[in-house]
Amino acid sequence: MPDLDLPQRQLTDALMLTGFWYRALPADRIHRNHLYKATLLEIPLVIGRDRLGQPFALRDACPHRGMPLNCGRFDGENLECGYHGWQFDVHDGQCQLIPSLTADQKLKIDRIYAGSYACEEQDSFIWVFIPDPAPPAAGFAPRIEAPDAAPQIEKFTGKYKSAYLQAEMPVSIDHGIIGLMDPAHGPFVHQAWWWRTQRSIHEKKKNFEPIPNGFRMSAHTPSSNSAPYKLLRLYADADSITTTIDFVLPNLRTETIRAGKYWFSSLTTVTPITRSQCRIDVVAAWNLFRWVPFVPDLLKFVFAKFVEQDRRTMELQAEGLQHNPHLMLIDDADRPAKWYFQLKAAHLEAKRTGIEMKHPMPGPVTLKWRS
Ligand code: FES
Ligand SMILES: [Fe+2]
Repeated sequence: MPDLDLPQRQLTDALMLTGFWYRALPADRIHRNHLYKATLLEIPLVIGRDRLGQPFALRDACPHRGMPLNCGRFDGENLECGYHGWQFDVHDGQCQLIPSLTADQKLKIDRIYAGSYACEEQDSFIWVFIPDPAPPAAGFAPRIEAPDAAPQIEKFTGKYKSAYLQAEMPVSIDHGIIGLMDPAHGPFVHQAWWWRTQRSIHEKKKNFEPIPNGFRMSAHTPSSNSAPYKLLRLYADADSITTTIDFVLPNLRTETIRAGKYWFSSLTTVTPITRSQCRIDVVAAWNLFRWVPFVPDLLKFVFAKFVEQDRRTMELQAEGLQHNPHLMLIDDADRPAKWYFQLKAAHLEAKRTGIEMKHPMPGPVTLKWRS
């Protein structure tokens, strides 16, 4: 009998995981000496670049009386709050000046901090590290450093092209992610003559294996019913084309296609903006078609179409979810979604107990579905 999870209520409180790097804004939109607003995990941020081009991220609320710092003045080094003129170093958030203090008032202003976040530029995006909630010391805590660098796209040669795409979805992070890893919606949502049609549905069998904090669809020859892969076959022997897809907490989906000396890599993230809103960012890098002028545009067009179809679907889904319907996850097409929820639960449990995370997958598994 197929494994069918009992209908369950939608989790209204889709937990957003802290202690990870998240993509905040596309790097090419952030200019020196300017301030930009962003929201990650319901945290308001002000993001910018100093006069040397180094990015920074601060909590968009002055530690004095909460004025949004993005309304302040920025000279490329310090940010001055628009209310009482307190100044903060944009990189570590440390207070530099309180204009109202008189010469004999000895307040130690270097103990005051605007909330500051570790920030890195990587593969077309400004990434921000969202630490676990710190003990309440608002206004007096220096920032928490990230334990590792922001995620990167794997590149296999020095020369490559890259592009990014983004779309906002009015659904929680969980629906955004399980929509991303869902193998069964392709023929219905992404129908197009150049991609695949409902008539091309056939049975698929894919091997999955556990990897740290996630799972991998093991290297395989891509689906025969997809046009981009047909294109790839112009470059390489069909049998030499392999694709590997990884999902890793909190929100990273990596796809790598290799065809001889050619490669295509993408890193897609679903970022929680608020509890009921997420954003999908796809960054792709490739060394294929580099010298054929219009192919990158074509590729971008195809991807943009896909992302828009997913966005539109989730927009419609959000209407249905408003009524808190019963939901179900079925075997095997929804198994990756179940792994996602199990991984998330295992991660939180490991954090709570301090005991090493127990991976929900016992070992390699083969899943079958039609798409
Ligand atoms: S609120 Fe920012 S200086 Fe007073
Ligand atoms: Fe999709």
